[in-house]
Amino acid sequence: MNQVMKNQAINKFPEGFLWGGATAANQLEGGYNEGGKGLSTADVMTAGTHTTPRRITLELDESLNYPSHEAVDFYHRYKEDIELFGQMGFKVFRLSIAWSRIFPNGDDAEPNEEGLKFYDSVFAELKKRGIEPLVTISHYETPLNLAKQYNGWTSRKLIDFYVKYCETIFNRYKDTVKYWLTFNEINMLTMPFGSIFAGAILPDAEADLTTMKDNEQQRYQALHHQFVASAKAVKLGHEINPEFKIGCMIAYLCSYPLTCNPDDVILAQQKDNLTNFLCSDVQVRGAYPGFAKRYFAEKGIEIAMEAGDEQILAEGCVDYYTCSYYSSTCVSADPDQEKIGGNMSMGLKNPYLKASAWEWQIDPQGLRWSMNNIYNRYGIPMMVVENGLGAVDTVEEDGSINDDYRIDYLKQHIEAMKEAIFDGVDLIGYTPWGCIDLVSAGTGEMKKRYGFIYVDKDNEGKGTLDRKPKKSFYWYKQVIESNGEEL
Ligand code: BG6
Repeated sequence: MNQVMKNQAINKFPEGFLWGGATAANQLEGGYNEGGKGLSTADVMTAGTHTTPRRITLELDESLNYPSHEAVDFYHRYKEDIELFGQMGFKVFRLSIAWSRIFPNGDDAEPNEEGLKFYDSVFAELKKRGIEPLVTISHYETPLNLAKQYNGWTSRKLIDFYVKYCETIFNRYKDTVKYWLTFNEINMLTMPFGSIFAGAILPDAEADLTTMKDNEQQRYQALHHQFVASAKAVKLGHEINPEFKIGCMIAYLCSYPLTCNPDDVILAQQKDNLTNFLCSDVQVRGAYPGFAKRYFAEKGIEIAMEAGDEQILAEGCVDYYTCSYYSSTCVSADPDQEKIGGNMSMGLKNPYLKASAWEWQIDPQGLRWSMNNIYNRYGIPMMVVENGLGAVDTVEEDGSINDDYRIDYLKQHIEAMKEAIFDGVDLIGYTPWGCIDLVSAGTGEMKKRYGFIYVDKDNEGKGTLDRKPKKSFYWYKQVIESNGEEL
């Protein structure tokens, strides 16, 4: 009888499911030069809009608006924010540690105690509310000095700096943090946009993000260094605390063939392999897949590896898989098809889908499809650690913010995750992106909001920074309370 029960399909969220929200330091904290923090690559990126790309200035220019400098001031308001997360019933809160708060220059001999203390206080506050931290070790915020002195992750030296940083935070927080992610959206390095965000590879001169010169050879070399760094961190983390769960984090870009023409189907599979699975194959299975080797050979990309790298990769496999999922696009062999945007990338328009105001196509079924696709490959526990709708919110005269469109988006995606669980996927957590409004990574805007909590700040950086629950705040609270049953 017991055996039969065990084998039954589960059509609801499992007990202990980790409901919560996700953020990143450079988009949330502010306090960019407080508490001994050094500059990061994010601190020299100006604000842009949907139509005006962000710029990288290399040196700070006082006349420009750098949104990371104040962001939404979590640095000073974390107690209030965590209290609100607690009110929603969060079980988990995904945040990143700003590397340059701990090692201001990245290559310092000693860590910055004030930076470490800040996260002591944040974790203590989370503990008070029974919220589990989920820490991204590096989320698009490499110390600027490492970018300038070493050309970012193109240099092998960054592996040691990163591992030293990991060792410091693993030891310091070994009794407070259990869940870690080594690199946010590591697969962004398979795309040009990833050079600066993920790879900390600076342009030669001030440039905007869309016209920066791309160097694929450098990008893949930087990616290799991150693979080695990630694997070393996993091994070290498990030595420091065998209870640690250390995961990978992939921007899962769901891409359908536009038609059933086999050319489109093959192209879609190649895109899935290269953009989505190359990185997770290395991080989950511990070795480069065959299709990556073929791609490098055909493109003349030569990855400089040291003896022992392959063994390091094999010994540093992650414990669980996580990804961001926002939208889907299509792939076609026909070059004349209509293009549409997406998370740091472009794809083709799908005639069956509607898109957000920032032209990201809304596709909840794509989430179910993706989760099955990933789980069928790896069969390890999974979390969706980013998902959500970037939208313009309006504050009504009575002060309310009625974000029904956001509720609708999230509801459909939660339903899709439930279907995936019914399909057999071992999903253990869900942290929708920007649970409190924060700076957009892609455009640097405040106007593109994802939060359950509204922050009074506009694109020019003006506003009181006051917090206010939106309608979705109360909705999500009920979702968590009912463990995903009341949507
Ligand atoms: C992911 C990033 O790519 O997407 C986040 O990990 C980012 O940092 C999120 O904010 C949403 O993208 P955007 O451009 O709307 O902020």
